[in-house]
Amino acid sequence: MLLERMRDIETTLLHGGIDGDGRTGAVNVPIYQTSTYKQIRLGEHTGYEYSRTGNPTREALEKLIAELEGGARGFAFASGMAAITAILTLFKTGDKVLISNNVYGGTFRVLDKIFSNFGLEYEFVDTTGSGIDGSIKDDIENKLTAPVKALLIESPANPLMTVTDIAAAADIAKRHGVLTIVDNTFMSPYLQRPIELGADIVLHSATKYLGGHSDLIAGLAVTADEVLGEKLHFIQNATGGILQPFDSFLLIRGIKTLGVRLDRHQENALYAAEWLQKHPGVARVYYPGLPGDAGYEIQKRQANGPGGMLSFELNGGWDHEAFINGLSLVTLAESLGGVESLICQPSSMTHASIPEDIRKKIHITEKLIRFSVGIENKHDIVADLRQALDGARRAS
Ligand SMILES: Cc1ncc(COP(=O)(O)O)c(C=O)c1O
Repeated sequence: MLLERMRDIETTLLHGGIDGDGRTGAVNVPIYQTSTYKQIRLGEHTGYEYSRTGNPTREALEKLIAELEGGARGFAFASGMAAITAILTLFKTGDKVLISNNVYGGTFRVLDKIFSNFGLEYEFVDTTGSGIDGSIKDDIENKLTAPVKALLIESPANPLMTVTDIAAAADIAKRHGVLTIVDNTFMSPYLQRPIELGADIVLHSATKYLGGHSDLIAGLAVTADEVLGEKLHFIQNATGGILQPFDSFLLIRGIKTLGVRLDRHQENALYAAEWLQKHPGVARVYYPGLPGDAGYEIQKRQANGPGGMLSFELNGGWDHEAFINGLSLVTLAESLGGVESLICQPSSMTHASIPEDIRKKIHITEKLIRFSVGIENKHDIVADLRQALDGARRAS
C-alpha cells in the first residue's frame, strides 16, 4: 500500500535517501571512514575515488536532504557557514546579493568582511512587506537593479521571527532572472519546503533542528534543479568544505526523530509564548504562532507550523540581565534547535557581528531575548521562566 501513495514526510525522515546497507543488511547506513577507494583497474573505479568528491555516508545524507526538501541534488558541508560560503561562490565580482533584514549575523559577516574583498556586493532588503515602500513587491522590486543575481531570505528571520511570503518573493525574483535562496534553518523541511514555494536553493545550519541534539556542526544545501546542482557539486569538491562521515552519520540519526521532536518543540513554544504574553514583566513576544503576530497568516499558509523559536522583550520594571542570569533549567548559550531549552541575547551573542547602528535600525536591541524552546516538560520550562522573572523585578 505504502508504495502506491507518496510517502509522508514522517516516513521519509526515517527511510528517505539511501536506507540501510544493501551489502550487509545493516539497518543503518555504515560510517565509511575512508579517505580513498581501491580502484578496479586503471581507468575503472567503483564510483568513489576520493572522499572529498564523494563518500557513501555523506551521499546517503545528501540524497536524504534532497528528497526531504523536494530538490534535485543535496550537499553536506562542515557547517552552515560553509554551505552559505559555497553557495555565495556561485557569484562573481560585480554581482550583488539582496539579503533579508535580520539574516543570521554570520551571513552578514561573510558578505561584509570576506566576499566584499572579492567584489561581491550585498544590500539589505525588507522582504516582509512592511518596509519603506510598503509592499513586498515594491520593497524587493525597487532594489532589483542589474547587478543583483540573488535574493537570500530567512523566514522566520532571526531573531525577530519576521515572516516573508516566500512564494511572492520567489515569484518577483524569478521574473527578474534572480535566484531565490532560502535559509530554512528555523523551520526544517518538516515544517516548510521552500523549493515547492519557488526557491532555487535551500540551505540549513544542520547544527540546529536537523541534528537536534547540540552535538555537531553541519550545513546542508539543496538545489531545485540539476544544473545548479552540478555547479554546487563542482564548488563543493573544488573548495572542500565537506561534512565528515561520522558527522554525516550523526546527522542522519538526528533527522530520523525530527518530526516527533518538532511536534513537541512547537507545543512547548506555543505554551511558553502564550504564558509570556500574559506576564506583566513581558513587553512583547515575537512568535508567528500567536494570532496577533504580523507574520501569523503567511506562516499558517506557507508552513506546517510556527516552529520552536520565539523572542521577547521585558518591561522596564524587569532587569533583563538578572532574568537571564536567574534561569536554571533554561541554559544561556548560542545556538538553537537542540532538545534542550537555550536562551540568548542576540545583540551581544548571535548578532554581535552586525554593527550597532544597523542592529538598532533592525530592532535588535539589548532588551531582546531569544528563546529556543526545548522538549522538556512545558510546565518545568514555564516554572523556570516564572522564578527568573520573579527574581528580576526591579525594586520600585
Ligand atoms: C539561520 C542560521 N543560518 C546559518 C547559521 C550558520 O550555521 P553554522 O553555525 O552551522 O555554521 C546559523 C547559525 O546560528 C543560523 O542560525
